[in-house]
Amino acid sequence: MKAVILVGGLGTRLRPLTCNTPKPMIPLVNQPFIESMLLRLRDQGIDEVVLAVQYLAERFVAALGDGSRLGLKLHIIEEPEPRGTAGAVKNVEHLLDDTTFVFNGDVMTDLDLQAMLAYHREKQSKVTISLTPVDDPTQFGLVEMEKDNRVHRFLEKPRAEDITTNLINAGTYIIEPEMLRYVPPNQFYMFERGLFPVVLQTGDSMFGFPSRAYWTDIGKPQTYLDVHHDILIGKVRYSFRGTQIADRIWLEGDADIHPTAQMVGPLVIGHGVTIGRGARVIGPTVIGNGCHIGAEAALEGVVLWDGNQIGEGATLRNCVLGRNNQIGAKTLITDGAIISDGCSLGAENRLERGIRIWPGTSLGEQAISF
Ligand code: GDD
Ligand code: MG
Repeated sequence: MKAVILVGGLGTRLRPLTCNTPKPMIPLVNQPFIESMLLRLRDQGIDEVVLAVQYLAERFVAALGDGSRLGLKLHIIEEPEPRGTAGAVKNVEHLLDDTTFVFNGDVMTDLDLQAMLAYHREKQSKVTISLTPVDDPTQFGLVEMEKDNRVHRFLEKPRAEDITTNLINAGTYIIEPEMLRYVPPNQFYMFERGLFPVVLQTGDSMFGFPSRAYWTDIGKPQTYLDVHHDILIGKVRYSFRGTQIADRIWLEGDADIHPTAQMVGPLVIGHGVTIGRGARVIGPTVIGNGCHIGAEAALEGVVLWDGNQIGEGATLRNCVLGRNNQIGAKTLITDGAIISDGCSLGAENRLERGIRIWPGTSLGEQAISF
């Protein structure tokens, strides 16, 4: 079974985490997001994937190669210019020959793909769109259906007054390749504003597949933290790498944890981590490879990428740190703060309320202080 994953976009809303790292490469529980997505597809019976990328193909090739390390066949295809969601699939049409899954590349879900495929076949559908309920459909594609789940209206980014249902396009499709004949070649064309409205007019069968599977868009800072918390507390089906060493504590390699450190799961701890005397690490928390947590430091609800050095007595709560930051003693970072990569924050600073610190920032002691 083949799939196309759409990987475009600049990830602007996730800046500064995406300043140095393309959005699909940002880690989810210590593993590039796209890699965890590929493993999920592989585990659900997809053995060949086309990654339709807008730019930086070489970064994807360097990280993922031909997919053999992950146990599937991978093609990484860069568009000459952004082709839009349907145009991107048209651009790789020569690699497709049969019923194909298409995925938006910025969604975390544990949708049952085999159930969706069985449904697509049972309905003899040409296009099947997975649907999920949301509170506010205005940021998404609204999908209205008949009683038998045949789609009869698709409205991308509806205005508040056009909302008639809470079911939206969840960004997983199954398409019959013959539908690509409606997509004009070599130009920008979207499923949402182009192909789906056209298919409604041609009368080819298009069905919605509503599901209550876990679903979230990973592209916003708060959802990025929420997804981690949901994975760690078991709200979404997810297989952890590493070995479970205690109640809901997973270790991904060797770690040096001081016997007086207090560790409360759910925690995932990367390779080569050291945790100092009297430190408190409270889940849901992820600590990347090579991080050092100083004595008496307190961490709760945080995501640290690789190589962070946390000073003695620092407090980190509900925040994200990118790679290789130095955090001074007794500094406090809380409330959705995001620190990018390579920052050096002196002792006794206080960073709160969604503050975003750009790569390479240096702050002296007490620069933003108590
Ligand atoms: N290769 C390629 N080329 N990929 C693209 C392009 C392109 O030109 N444009 C967008 N993509 C990729 C994005 O990277 C993302 O993975 C996916 O296609 C969807 O594009 P977004 O820009 O993230 O769209 P959205 O989030 O505003 O809305 C889409 O997703 C919602 C669900 O999250 C739509 O499909 C909505 O209908 C849907 O509800
Ligand atoms: Mg999106």
